Amino acid sequence: MGDLVAKTGEGSNNSSVPSDLSTKARCSEVQSHGSVVATHYNTLEERGLAERCKSRIFYLRNFNNWIKSMMINEYLSKIWQGKSHGAPVRVLDMCCGKGGDLLKWRRGNITHLVCADIAEVSVEQCQARYNDLQNRSRNDRGFAPVFTAEFISADCTKVRLRDRYKDPTMELDLVSCQFSFHYCFESLPQAESMLCNAAECLRPGGYFIGTIPDAYEVMKRHQTEGDSFGNEIYKVEFQCDTKPPVPLFGAKYSFHLEGVVDCPEFLVHFPTLVKLAKKYGLQLVAKERFDSYYERVKEEGRSLLGKMQALETYPPFHEAPLLGHVPEDYEHVQQYMQKSTGHRKVGTLSKSEWEAASLYLMFAFQKDNTRWKAEERPEFEDRSETTRKRASEDGNDGSVSKCLKSTDLTVGAGGETL
Ligand SMILES: C[S@@+](CC[C@H](N)C(=O)[O-])C[C@H]1O[C@@H](n2cnc3c(N)ncnc32)[C@H](O)[C@@H]1O
Repeated sequence: MGDLVAKTGEGSNNSSVPSDLSTKARCSEVQSHGSVVATHYNTLEERGLAERCKSRIFYLRNFNNWIKSMMINEYLSKIWQGKSHGAPVRVLDMCCGKGGDLLKWRRGNITHLVCADIAEVSVEQCQARYNDLQNRSRNDRGFAPVFTAEFISADCTKVRLRDRYKDPTMELDLVSCQFSFHYCFESLPQAESMLCNAAECLRPGGYFIGTIPDAYEVMKRHQTEGDSFGNEIYKVEFQCDTKPPVPLFGAKYSFHLEGVVDCPEFLVHFPTLVKLAKKYGLQLVAKERFDSYYERVKEEGRSLLGKMQALETYPPFHEAPLLGHVPEDYEHVQQYMQKSTGHRKVGTLSKSEWEAASLYLMFAFQKDNTRWKAEERPEFEDRSETTRKRASEDGNDGSVSKCLKSTDLTVGAGGETL
């Protein structure tokens, strides 16, 4: 890590670090949690489609995947708009896991992909999936060749990825870090390294996008439910002193999600992330909770919602069992159907799944044309006004977030789209 900071000349004790970024990491341990996280993901068994269909979180996983697809499409479209015909589009999938987003990159018509993850078994599986995709596309006449790709097994909070690229002078158009960025908030140096990896090869105008748990929402639930809270599918257990002030880094909790995640994670104090990102020439251009992002893009993404089976049909077809087990799981949709007319079938998520989905937010940063002044302070145009306005309208700039209701998610889907 020290190596990375030294090479970029942007050390954590650089004068441009905002002064209130004190690392009061009372609850972080000296040893990094990277190896715990890597072991967890390395030993996670790949479940087949049949098994996944039976999973209690089948729709939640599809819903999260749909959010990622919509985000990736949104930002790739912006990138394509600014490109001349035939110009390459290069992407870094930071913390790529087993390659769950490979098809999204394929559909987005990108030219080159760098996949990096701390779990080497996941990286191998990701590479095997890519090879399959490539073989299938070779046999598919009429299809454009699949993008080229390279695979890196590394801790993105400690290793300078650029040193591992086949071409270290490569300029990226998009960096995507899905459901993973929060791991770097273990400490300030780790957050800096991860941001440096996200920013340093991005071309001016390129985007850094991602999804993380919303620390305000986590703390709000903590305030009402205590150090351990959740439901039948997810569970959060604080493993640090949560008496205010909660530390900016190392605010550790364990997150358990039915069969897929069981790891230590860290709260991401969003204003701190925004300040740190500026240091690397990244300006916040979008920040939205999943509920509000869903509301904004659901019409545009309606057919994809159906194709990806991102919502459960209520009432189910042909007496098929509902995935939710507790009686309250579908009360919101029953109320919705009573109030609205003309919906014989709707798409929804069970209350338990919605409680897990609504913990998350999406973010997007754009790389500036940063000029470094003599005293090593970056100079950039502030593009964040609109974002600040939207965040304050969302009620997300204060310490308590707005209340989420599971009815926020229910849509009249019409049986035919599902
Ligand atoms: C919830 S999974 C998400 C995987 C993928 N981005 C997706 O959306 O399907 C989190 C991933 O982050 C990776 N990860 C966690 N800490 C990391 C680190 N320090 N460096 C690189 N990868 C890390 C894990 O190995 C795991 O693959």
